[in-house]
Amino acid sequence: MKVVVLGADGYLGWPLSLRLLARGHDVIGVDNFVTRKNVKEVGSDSAIPIPAMKDRIKAAKDIHGFNMKFHEGDITDYEFLHKVMKEEKPDAVVHFAETRSAPYSMINAKHATYTLTNNISGTINLIYSMMETNPSAHVVKMGTMGEYGTPNFDIPESAYVDVEIKGRKDRITTPKFAGSWYHWSKVHDTNNILFANKVLKLTFTDIMQGPVYGTRTKEITDEKLHTRFDFDEVWGTVVNRFCVESVLGIPLTVYGSGQQVRGYLSLEDSVQALSLLIENPPEHGEYRVANQFVELLSINQIAETVQKAAKRLGIEVTIGKHENPRVEADRHHYNPEIKVLPGLGFKPKLKMADLTGQLIQDLVPYKEHMSRFHNRILPYTNWRKTENAR
Ligand SMILES: NC(=O)c1ccc[n+]([C@@H]2O[C@H](COP(=O)([O-])OP(=O)(O)OC[C@H]3O[C@@H](n4cnc5c(N)ncnc54)[C@H](O)[C@@H]3O)[C@@H](O)[C@H]2O)c1
Repeated sequence: MKVVVLGADGYLGWPLSLRLLARGHDVIGVDNFVTRKNVKEVGSDSAIPIPAMKDRIKAAKDIHGFNMKFHEGDITDYEFLHKVMKEEKPDAVVHFAETRSAPYSMINAKHATYTLTNNISGTINLIYSMMETNPSAHVVKMGTMGEYGTPNFDIPESAYVDVEIKGRKDRITTPKFAGSWYHWSKVHDTNNILFANKVLKLTFTDIMQGPVYGTRTKEITDEKLHTRFDFDEVWGTVVNRFCVESVLGIPLTVYGSGQQVRGYLSLEDSVQALSLLIENPPEHGEYRVANQFVELLSINQIAETVQKAAKRLGIEVTIGKHENPRVEADRHHYNPEIKVLPGLGFKPKLKMADLTGQLIQDLVPYKEHMSRFHNRILPYTNWRKTENAR
């Protein structure tokens, strides 16, 4: 297949590009490198240094013999995206090119509007450019499990649910209540995609993915092929942040009671699941939603897993408690349905307890680099404040 990966320079975009190339697909990457810039803006950096895109592409060629094409540009620029889609005419487009940090979106009004504008307008541009150049292609759009929030019902893996309101029955879109402007941008995207599917009959897979952790996939065999790895309080997701904290000797930053439960998966499993969804598209004109996670775990369980893995490596780390800077339920029901990926034969390769030791070991060589950003790890961005810029 010919696959365009929007956001190919990112944490997920780079390993997925390598996996698709390894599986014999033609891959065309697109990125404007804004994550590199935005992470630096908050005084942080990737824990694992990453080469420039041209050097990554050369390393992929030298090490694995892969030929990857790349277009630098911003997908909120319609002319640019339209030109790429017209030139490439892909079978599938993977859309990762969004700003992905909940705390970043909660810093202040400027960051909230940036996140909402970047994410929503990029998706709208994608819808229009696909309609005008290539309406039969499959769009694989990355959403998040965070769109659902933590409702007191079992989260269905479907676009619509049947309801009865004051005695009358109808189908409505699956209820969602996100927990940050970032997560709301994804809910708005989902609504826009559903509308595009209904009106324009475009084909979508909308993936509701849980937080991803890890440093490697099987193609990342050399440091020139590493993917980025964020760990500060704004850009680092919880497992990756805890592993860096254990290397730096910082008590693990558990927020609130630590009983918040989410669905997690490793980078290897994320890439495996995404490849399956790309290679097994829905029917033409269909909208398919896929929940994507492997294990439901509480923050306390994750902290204990990381603590035990560190201990096995001779690293003693304590578990710290912080007042929760986010507005989220401390204790809640959480039971999302997951049937699409298992139905395609998805079998997770890794559990968190199996991987955290290797993850910590992969970070140790970068201890000195990471320690330069030590003061960016403790929670700072507070949901209840309207100004969090440092
Ligand atoms: N990493 C996770 O745990 C996780 C979990 C659930 C969902 N997601 C979603 O998956 C996608 C990829 O996540 P990631 O962790 O790789 O994030 P990332 O920030 O590392 O990658 C996103 C890439 O898109 C690029 N980009 C952003 N806006 C762009 C624009 N307007 N034009 C061109 N390029 C643009 C960035 O420069 C970056 O390289 C995101 O949509 C994110 O919200 C990630």
